[in-house]
Order: sequence, then structure tokens, then C-alpha cells
Amino acid sequence: MSFAKLILVQKTFFGHPGRFPASLISSRKSPSLQPTKSHTIRSFATVAMVKAIRVHEHGGPEVLKWEDVEVGEPKEGEIRVKNKAVGLNFIDVYFRKGVYKSTLPFTPGNEAVGVVTAVGPGLTGRKVGDVVAYAGHPLGSYTEEQILPASAAVAVPPSIDPIVAASIMLKGMTAQVLVRRCFKVEPGHTVLVHAAAGGVGSLLCQWASALGATVIGTVSSEVKAAQAAEDGCHHVIIYTQEDFVASVDKITSGQGVNVVYDSVGKDTFQGSLACLKPRGYMVNFGQSSGTPDPLPLSALAAKSLFLTRPSLMQYNATRDELVECASEVFTNVASGVLRVRVNHTYPLSHAAKAHADLEARKTSGSVVLLPDAA
Ligand SMILES: NC(=O)c1ccc[n+]([C@@H]2O[C@H](COP(=O)([O-])OP(=O)(O)OC[C@H]3O[C@@H](n4cnc5c(N)ncnc54)[C@H](OP(=O)(O)O)[C@@H]3O)[C@@H](O)[C@H]2O)c1
Repeated sequence: MSFAKLILVQKTFFGHPGRFPASLISSRKSPSLQPTKSHTIRSFATVAMVKAIRVHEHGGPEVLKWEDVEVGEPKEGEIRVKNKAVGLNFIDVYFRKGVYKSTLPFTPGNEAVGVVTAVGPGLTGRKVGDVVAYAGHPLGSYTEEQILPASAAVAVPPSIDPIVAASIMLKGMTAQVLVRRCFKVEPGHTVLVHAAAGGVGSLLCQWASALGATVIGTVSSEVKAAQAAEDGCHHVIIYTQEDFVASVDKITSGQGVNVVYDSVGKDTFQGSLACLKPRGYMVNFGQSSGTPDPLPLSALAAKSLFLTRPSLMQYNATRDELVECASEVFTNVASGVLRVRVNHTYPLSHAAKAHADLEARKTSGSVVLLPDAA
């Protein structure tokens, strides 16, 4: 329990409060626990108490509470990790609001990087002191220390700072899924990326550009437009000031784009379909502005469009897929193909402020929460 605050708690024998015959316990050495006749048996055990953000009811950022929680011991196949950096993702907002379901109360968060502080019985291939990262599953990274299935974690290369790693695990692996597996971007393609200066958007534009595509990005402000241009967007549209469908039509000389990566959802979905060329790919992977309205299947017929709604979890369903995906992201960071933008850090205890800023479109690039700064 090296990192956590330790407290002594009285625990009942094997966790069961009860009364046992003296003969069963008389061999216990502790003088203070020596039985006389029949006794309630108590042993003293250490329990790690750490700070975490907890959600007891769905709602706005104010439902994120900074509280004490217990961290247990890792069981078979598990590790305990002291988090150095926690990635903030828009999916955390969906869980907080109850758009994505989880049982209350819960600790939010889908991504963290930390140091292994204990390993479960019999576990090989992972040891105390290893720096590991995980993204996507299980829920509960907004904490100083947590238990994880060892199979969910990957080793972080020593050359990559933990804060950088926490900013690209979920977002970078999502970008990998989108440009390499969901729709394979190739030289000559024209791609449209909404929220191009966002966490995923920034990485997506850089990666698509490196693959040889012409990248068109949409953003809400001049400041974000400058960042998107730096991140490989050949054309940037400020979709809060101009009609992005008309702009894409002009940029592509009426040809349309091969693929739209749309994470904005409700506000952009119909326009995105209009931007596609015949047999184009509509990839809706998020809903930052709300869930898109239902679409009749027949709406795809006019241009023989493909429509998909991918999720990182399904693309990284196996350990091999996870390791390969993470390794490709780490390689691209190390080689400079992906420039990581940790544009905002907050103490983990200030997660509510970070959520409010993300939802208010005040952030760009990646946002990282720091447990040690709390
Ligand atoms: N399917 C998956 O597996 C998967 C995995 C990771 C992320 N995602 C999705 O990818 C998206 C991006 O995630 P992220 O964490 O990187 O967030 P982000 O893009 O950094 O933040 C969301 C951005 O969306 C834009 N936006 C447009 N309308 C908005 C509105 N009404 N409210 C708030 N934002 C709005 C804003 O950019 P502008 O100011 O430029 O408009 C904002 O900065 C999210 O929708 C997320 O759910 C999906």
C-alpha cells in the first residue's frame, strides 16, 4: 500500500461478524485478542483509503464529488495502479449525465496511466513499478489508485511521459481505429473531420494527413482553426460562421469527400451525409452536440453510402488488437507523426471544472487530470 493513505480498520474475522468458540481461536498470538470464553473475533487489517471523484446522481459537472474510497487488494489476474495522469474524454460526460448507463454510485473515467503498486496472486508478466496505461474499460479512472484487470493494461514505453501517454491512449487508439481499420485512409482520399481541434480530432487530422489524404477540418473559432491547420488540415472551415456543406462543395469542386469522421452528431450529421461523394463512408463516432435524428435506410440509396457507428471497445475486443493498436499509437508519437497537444491540465479534484470547460467548447487538444496536483 505504498502510495495510498493507510488507516487501520477493525475487520471481523474473515470479514464475517460473528461469535466463535474460544477453542477455535485460542492459538492466535495477539495478546490483545486473547479470548476468554466466547468472543467476537477481530483482526486488524490495513485498508488503503484514496481520494476519488464519485458520482451519486446523474447531472451536470456539480455531481462530481471528491471523496475517500477504499482500494482493495488485487485478486487473480488483477493489478493495483497508482495513477499519475488521467485522460479526460467526452465519453466521461455521457456517463456523468446518464446518457451511457452505469450503476450509481460510480467512479467515472475511462483512461489513466500509472505505476503498478501490487499484483494479484500468481500474475506473471507484470511487476510492481511498471508504468502502464489503459483506456476504455473498466470505468473508474478518476481516482488516485485503482484495481485493474492486468489484461486491460499495456506497458508505456519509457520514452513517453505518463501525462503524454494519458492524453493519447483513448484518443489516439480511437484515431487508429478510424483511419486504419474503420475506413482505411489512403493517399488521394479527401476526408472531412469535424471538431478538428478536439482531443480525437487533432490526432485524427495529423494521422490522416500523414497517410496522404487531403484533410478538411471543421472548428468553432479562429484559434481552433490555427491549431487545426498546424495539425495537418489542408482546409479549415469555421462551421459556426459558414455553411460547412457549401464550403466542402467548393473545396472539392463539387466532388464531395470519401469519408466523414463525425463526432459532433446532431448538429452535423445531415450535413455530413451531403458532403459525401457516391459510395462514400459516413463514420459517426460521437455525439458531442447530441444524438443525431433517426435516418431512414432509404436516405443512403441516393449515393449508395456506407454508414457505420464504430466503438473503440469493439475494435479492441481482444488482447492482441489492444496491444497492436496501442503500439501503433506509441510508435507514431515517438516518431513524431503524432504531435500530442496536452493543452489543459487540472488537478483531479477539479474534474467538475474540466468537464464544464470541455462541454462549453473551451478546450482544444487533450485534457489531462492530475491526481498528484489535487
Ligand atoms: N466511438 C468511440 O469509440 C469514441 C472514442 C473516443 C471518443 N469518441 C467521441 O469523439 C468525440 C470527441 O471526443 P474528445 O474527448 O476528443 O472531445 P473533444 O473533441 O475534445 O471535445 C468535443 C468538441 O466537439 C465540438 N462540439 C461541437 N458541438 C458541440 C457541442 N454542442 N457541445 C460540446 N462540444 C461540441 C467542440 O469543438 P468545436 O468548438 O471546434 O466545435 C468540442 O471541443 C466525442 O463525441 C466522443 O464521444 C468516440
